[in-house]
Amino acid sequence: DEEVYNYYADGEWKKSASGKFVSIINPTTRTPQYKVQACTQEEVNKVMDAAKAAQKLWARTPLWKRAELLHKAAAILKEHKNPIAECLVKEIAKPAKDAVTEVVRSGDLVSYTAEDGVRILGEGKLLVSDSFPGNERSKYCLSSKIPLGVVLAIPPFNYPVNLAVSKIAPALIAGNALVLKPPTQGAVAALHMIHCFHLAGFPKGLISCVTGKGSEIGDFLTMHPGVNCISFTGGDTGIVISKKAGMIPLQMELGGKDACIVLEDADLDLVAANIVKGGYSYSGQRCTAVKVVLIMESVADAVVEKVKAKMAKLTIGPPEENCDITPVVSESSANFVEGLVMDAKQKGATFCQEYRREGNLIWPLLLDQVRPDMRIAWEEPFGPVLPVIRISSVEEGIHHCNASNFGLQGCVFTRDINKAIMISDAMETGTVQINSAPARGPDHFPFQGLKDSGIGSQGITNSINMMTKIKSTVINLP
Ligand code: G3P
Repeated sequence: DEEVYNYYADGEWKKSASGKFVSIINPTTRTPQYKVQACTQEEVNKVMDAAKAAQKLWARTPLWKRAELLHKAAAILKEHKNPIAECLVKEIAKPAKDAVTEVVRSGDLVSYTAEDGVRILGEGKLLVSDSFPGNERSKYCLSSKIPLGVVLAIPPFNYPVNLAVSKIAPALIAGNALVLKPPTQGAVAALHMIHCFHLAGFPKGLISCVTGKGSEIGDFLTMHPGVNCISFTGGDTGIVISKKAGMIPLQMELGGKDACIVLEDADLDLVAANIVKGGYSYSGQRCTAVKVVLIMESVADAVVEKVKAKMAKLTIGPPEENCDITPVVSESSANFVEGLVMDAKQKGATFCQEYRREGNLIWPLLLDQVRPDMRIAWEEPFGPVLPVIRISSVEEGIHHCNASNFGLQGCVFTRDINKAIMISDAMETGTVQINSAPARGPDHFPFQGLKDSGIGSQGITNSINMMTKIKSTVINLP
């Protein structure tokens, strides 16, 4: 029987009064692995009340003490990297080594946030009035950063630990309370991560983690009057949330269709290595994965051959064996990927490998000669399938990239730095990587999407600032 996990509220692990559970299906075995509580709206209300009360005291806790607790949580998290990583392997089929890396990266992120927070929040501003026309030097304005209140964090399945702490740590260091709604796949890893914060000794009610069905508590959470900020990473649901949310700051990181533009003068071995890493790591289930390759016709055959050779070396199988390609997160996800592949087949794409699927495991596939009338030219598979579109000019590549609804990241490969900068300027994406595949990290870099890819900017410093407001006190001299 699957193990049952409680939710976290008021500094305790609790069973929901609903008596109901949400099952977590192991993507590899396709059988139930864990069960989490299906929390009720009433339980959410209680969590919000407790968060509000705890936040008031927390905001008055000295900054250095808040930082100290975060450093402690980071150390505990790293100490428990193995059991947490095991959950990631079982719940989201993340390759074993990557699962450990995710937890370690998370510990580092929490520590860095604590350090960055004491610097950023430890500084205020003093303005004097006589710089504005008509004023004497009679007003002194003191401004500093204050917390927003209760931050609701909703991370996605692909980084249930890392993309949770990237919201939790900035919220807490800035003096906010935090309510986490983990994704169903990854909820148990997230609960373990929360346990590390529990062990560090944060005040009761300041941090809570509610699990449950989106249909029951999803809208209820995101539209809850007790929420003062939402930080969400995931898919289209983010667009729905932003339409329903109240007048509160939103941080959204949604999908991407990150393009990789390859110029004729590029280092083709470097290109191939980055296409394989960028396109197929964690089986393409990253919002920053390379999702379309736009390549100059004259070098296309050579690059496709090099990519094929590298793909042939990828290992395919269970995450426990640390295979490169592991089952995608769910059957519906695998079916969606298959739908894109079949559409491309019907419309005449060139298959560089045979399409193969067993359960949720999809063999890595490169589709050449993809044309704009194919769904895969525009849609995000979130699976190990990558389209190649051959272009006859750089402008054509930029045009395809900018015609997308998404605008997360993109990359360009060339040895000509002037061209690279010009292309970067022309690409309507939050980040452009020159001579490397897209990536969010290092985690203190700004990370943002344009258009349907998001609202606001993340990265440690930006997240801390986003989770605060400016408060001024003006001293008026007689
Ligand atoms: O898919 C989530 C996104 O934040 C990716 O992060 O580190 O894989 O570039 P990363």
